[in-house]
Amino acid sequence: RRRVRVHHLAEAKERGEKLTMLTAYDAVTARIFDAAGLDLLLVGDSIGNTMHGHTTTLPVTLDDMIPPARAVARAAEHALVVVDLPFGTYEAGPEQALASGVRVMKQTGAAAIKLEGGRRSAAQIRALTDAGIPVVGHLGFTPQSENILGGPRVQGRGDDAAEALCEDALAVQEAGAVAVVLEMVPVEVAARATEILRIPTIGIGAGPRVDGQVLVWTDMAGMTDWSPRFARRFAEVGNLLRQAAQDYADEVRGGTFPDAAHSFER
Ligand code: KIV
Ligand code: NA
Repeated sequence: RRRVRVHHLAEAKERGEKLTMLTAYDAVTARIFDAAGLDLLLVGDSIGNTMHGHTTTLPVTLDDMIPPARAVARAAEHALVVVDLPFGTYEAGPEQALASGVRVMKQTGAAAIKLEGGRRSAAQIRALTDAGIPVVGHLGFTPQSENILGGPRVQGRGDDAAEALCEDALAVQEAGAVAVVLEMVPVEVAARATEILRIPTIGIGAGPRVDGQVLVWTDMAGMTDWSPRFARRFAEVGNLLRQAAQDYADEVRGGTFPDAAHSFER
């Protein structure tokens, strides 16, 4: 299997091939998802929630993102690795966005960055793209703005909001983005945006009529008790892991581990 490059994204859309994306935050999971044939791996700022114990993505810093991004980029042989610019590292303008994007590209070996916002982020997307850094957009529910949006709520409901979302999608494309994530958007609105764009749309809680799907891997794998409604649990790895840890502890306490097969003779 060849390495996924940015030009393959629009080609996949043209051919009607769905793009597959999962988050990854370390080399162990990145290796597994890469071997599974995922097209894209996202080092998401969801690392704040999934790995660092925060309740939002807001406290995540660029310093937090670099070592995970480096680990995922090293581990991925085929997948295209995208790294989130966290809250506070691009909103001030194109110069700040460029400084953040350049740092990610220089220090991690990732192939693209992602940032939130449509028309409000167009100048940043343009500056990064002009500097040779591929950008993925992110519209609909944008977790870094959850305090304005009133929490994780469906965006683009109603004619005006749907129209605004499509305007944002076009602005992101015109600014040079190579793809756009649509999060928590009604099926019809995501389908409309997908129709009017040349670049692929990657949905999460945006229904099936988009060019690809992304999920947070801990939701996909059932690592936690709770997962959002749009995130189907494809396995119950959390239970499996708890059982394995329990079996290990039981066998240590019972004296059956380690046995001869797992010990050294003189
Ligand atoms: O940080 C993240 O995991 C994301 C996805 C939900 C798209 O941005
Ligand atoms: Na994110």
